[in-house]
Amino acid sequence: MNFELKPLGLVGVSSEKCDALIVLVPHTFKGAKDDLSVLITQAIKSTDLETKPGKMLALYRPMQANAARVVLAGVGDGSARQVRTALLAAVASVKSPAFKKLLVCFAAPAREEAIRAAVLAVADATYAYTHTKSKPEARILQKVVLTATNATEVQASFDRAVAVVAGVELAKEWANRPANHATPVALAQAAEKLAQLPKISCEVLGPKEVAKLGMGSFLAVAQGSEQPLRFVVLRYSGAAKSQAPTVLVGKGITFDSGGISIKPAAEMDEMKFDMSGAASVLGVFRSLSLLKPAINVVGLIPACENLLSGRAVKPGDVVTSMSGQTIEILNTDAEGRLVLCDALTYAERFKPAAVIDIATLTGACMVALGAVRSGLFSTQEALGSALFAAGEASQDLCWRLPLDEDYAEGLKSGFADVANVAGRAGGAITAAKFLQRFAEKFPWAHLDIAGTAWKSGAGKGATGRPVGLLVEYLLERTGTQ
Ligand code: BES
Ligand code: MN
Ligand code: ZN
Repeated sequence: MNFELKPLGLVGVSSEKCDALIVLVPHTFKGAKDDLSVLITQAIKSTDLETKPGKMLALYRPMQANAARVVLAGVGDGSARQVRTALLAAVASVKSPAFKKLLVCFAAPAREEAIRAAVLAVADATYAYTHTKSKPEARILQKVVLTATNATEVQASFDRAVAVVAGVELAKEWANRPANHATPVALAQAAEKLAQLPKISCEVLGPKEVAKLGMGSFLAVAQGSEQPLRFVVLRYSGAAKSQAPTVLVGKGITFDSGGISIKPAAEMDEMKFDMSGAASVLGVFRSLSLLKPAINVVGLIPACENLLSGRAVKPGDVVTSMSGQTIEILNTDAEGRLVLCDALTYAERFKPAAVIDIATLTGACMVALGAVRSGLFSTQEALGSALFAAGEASQDLCWRLPLDEDYAEGLKSGFADVANVAGRAGGAITAAKFLQRFAEKFPWAHLDIAGTAWKSGAGKGATGRPVGLLVEYLLERTGTQ
């Protein structure tokens, strides 16, 4: 899908040929004397069009435009959120087999965040998963033209959003693929493919190399499966070697059965999404390849399955992590932290400016924050607040949770340095406290995306979050490192 931004007002828009035209009309709309403006003004006056987001008026081949379908859509105060709500509804209403070229017109000058929200909403509303369908219904929409009178002012935001869409769609693609089509090996191949893009390189380690590194914790999770593990090291080099990189660590459990501490059957299929953190790292690298910022970024992905077998790790087993700390695995379903801890130790070698891990880590985080905000933890104030701000700016929201030392009480073990679970209470926080033990040597943040990485129910599928948040954070770092 191809996006373009044009500096057109309603006059110019009325003569642009397209299959569908969506005009975004805010509360503050003040029409000029052109035909399309007069039409909108009349529609508002007669109350046939309300300007609240989600309210629409559909027209067929009106004289005032060069499109078969025209939708006047209210966008309320024109904020990012309201533009998103309006466009998700409007695009769904004009979807048809003939829908190849779409024009989205801001009827009043567009704010930067509204432009970004528009690009992302159109992409979200038209995304189609096809990989494992025998008769794929691919996305029909080929061209999206956004118009705003202040187009030059918002060009940079537009470009950023287009790059984020490419990243989000790569993340969705891999997260959506079933576990038998997204094995650790396949995931590593996807990373290797990214290395064909400029400034990106990739190294993939297998079980032997991982054993040599002493990643006993990661190995313990992988040992129950026939699928060999992979440890992916991606690098984006946009700045001088001397510049410390930001390291992103993505949980890559390609299927989480729970292991011997097996999960209940209901909705277990959704555990194919347990590599959404890894998929978001792939997505960020895709976006970076398009934006080419002057920064260095490393992506680490520990990828394996969490299964049960005669070789699987058992509750009570004690393993030695790469850091040297021993871990008593009381619950094999708390496997995410076991693969992440070794990846965090590995991250030390990059002398990073910051390390951010991204993981579908705990059901408890989903209970705490639902599907709206990801959980954010950080040991460094500046990093935590920058990530929070990036979430607000990109509308890929998160919320900070605490890391008080008292929360680590429950992780004490009589048989190892630390246990991999504490009690039920504060489960998202105790998981973060476990990870913190392996992240003492650099500024660190942890994003728990258990509630935000995918949607359940009828529209089941990956969201591509938090690619938007991470790209925003990384671009804001440019020049400040
Ligand atoms: N991948 C799950 C977390 C998860 C569960 C994400 C449901 C999204 C939806 C993780 O590996 C897990 O199983 N965590 C356990 C931890 C517990 C055993 C301490 C959980 O949350 O139940
Ligand atoms: Mn688990
Ligand atoms: Zn898991």
